[in-house]
Amino acid sequence: MPDRASLEAFFSSKRDREFLAELALERVPRHVAIIMDGNGRWATKRGLPRIAGHRAGVKAIRETIQAALELGIDVLTVYSFSSENWRRPKDEVSHLMDLFVEVLEQEMTTLDKLGVRVRVIGRREGLPERTAEAFARAERQTADNDRLTYVVALNYGGRQEIADAVRAIAVKAATGQLDPSGIDLEMVADHLYTAGLPDPDLLIRTSGELRVSNFLLWQIAYSEMWVTSTLWPDFDRHDLLKAVVDYQRRSRRFGGL
Ligand code: IPE
Ligand code: IPE
Ligand code: MG
Repeated sequence: MPDRASLEAFFSSKRDREFLAELALERVPRHVAIIMDGNGRWATKRGLPRIAGHRAGVKAIRETIQAALELGIDVLTVYSFSSENWRRPKDEVSHLMDLFVEVLEQEMTTLDKLGVRVRVIGRREGLPERTAEAFARAERQTADNDRLTYVVALNYGGRQEIADAVRAIAVKAATGQLDPSGIDLEMVADHLYTAGLPDPDLLIRTSGELRVSNFLLWQIAYSEMWVTSTLWPDFDRHDLLKAVVDYQRRSRRFGGL
């Protein structure tokens, strides 16, 4: 459970204190997933190139990881690059692929010290070698950490993930490793990229868009959604705290009463 004194030191502004007073420490969401959107608009508003928005978004990730550690969240998943983002101009894509490597290498020591375990979900094929390698290194280096699992969705698409799981299960059925009549929800979940992770309790999207954009389609079946008009580079600890407190005000029914 998170520590009240440490939370008060971290969430020290007046408006944070109000939310903190309402926070139920024993009901913090276990898994928070974020669609980090609005970097391009943040930059355009300032007359800057889109990549400057992506760069500015790094600070928001750093702060969100710190806040997640403080709050005692177990898993934080961030949508960094979708299967469909390859449709963007070549130079934006290539800048992003370089930025991922640069930031990961720069932050590795700190993440490791903080006890963060890095995990990547998405298709490795199609990624530049340098990007895939940097993430594989980060996964290896942090494999024994257990304070927070930081899941980076990279070249990730929910439909692609389901298709990959179906294919893997079909291969096992065709080679006699499993009986098709035994295919159930648990078996499907075990073949997704997220195998072993709990489903997100809370799904956050920034920049005000009301869509899922092919993110974690299977896993968000019963996630609580929280949308803010804040653009991702402006997202901070206060926004995360507010989202968690709003989440705690809701009644999750999972189809029951
Ligand atoms: C999200 O910001 C980051 C990525 C998709 C990589 P966008 O780049 O989508 O920003 P907007 O939506 O164009 O403002
Ligand atoms: C979703 O944002 C993908 C990521 C945040 C990485 P997009 O900006 O790509 O989504 P759409 O195109 O607005 O649906
Ligand atoms: Mg966008």
